[in-house]
Amino acid sequence: MNKVLIPGSFDPITLGHMDIINRSLKLFDEVEIAIMENPHKTSLFSMQERKEMVELCVKDLDIKVTVSDGLTVNQAAKRGCNIILRGIRSASDYEYEKNMMLVNRAMNNQIETIFLESLPEYAHISSSTVREIMRYGGDISSFVPKVVVDYILEHALSKRF
Ligand code: PNS
Repeated sequence: MNKVLIPGSFDPITLGHMDIINRSLKLFDEVEIAIMENPHKTSLFSMQERKEMVELCVKDLDIKVTVSDGLTVNQAAKRGCNIILRGIRSASDYEYEKNMMLVNRAMNNQIETIFLESLPEYAHISSSTVREIMRYGGDISSFVPKVVVDYILEHALSKRF
């Protein structure tokens, strides 16, 4: 049985993430999302806010959502996942992800990393772009699921900058 962990900072979850999540459901027996800290990025949303947004997005799907501030590979082992899945949008993503895969493998070679290429219609979308659009008061509705737009409005999170 293949249980996959989809780790990410999800700050916030985007339509690109949803594409990878939906496609993963057809490929693996079980899918779990892990919201993790990315030490290279300054976050906008709290872990709790990110979790609530992800949960709203996957509420009709058979997917668990967890939060961890540790190593992804340890979270995968703890959750009984034998695969880590990462979406790739570009060659520069690949270079970064390949290194992370090798580091994760050096720490635990029982866990495989698999890459799924973004569909072209989502390849320009990233959480950091969404945060930048928000910073300047732009419209993020073509980048994130509607429930995320609603959550941000409801909690007045666009006023955070
Ligand atoms: O959505 P992101 O920001 O591209 O996700 C990156 C993430 C959170 C998966 C990565 O930074 C991560 O795995 N963070 C946890 C710490 C860790 O395990 N780092 C990799 C080995 S040094």
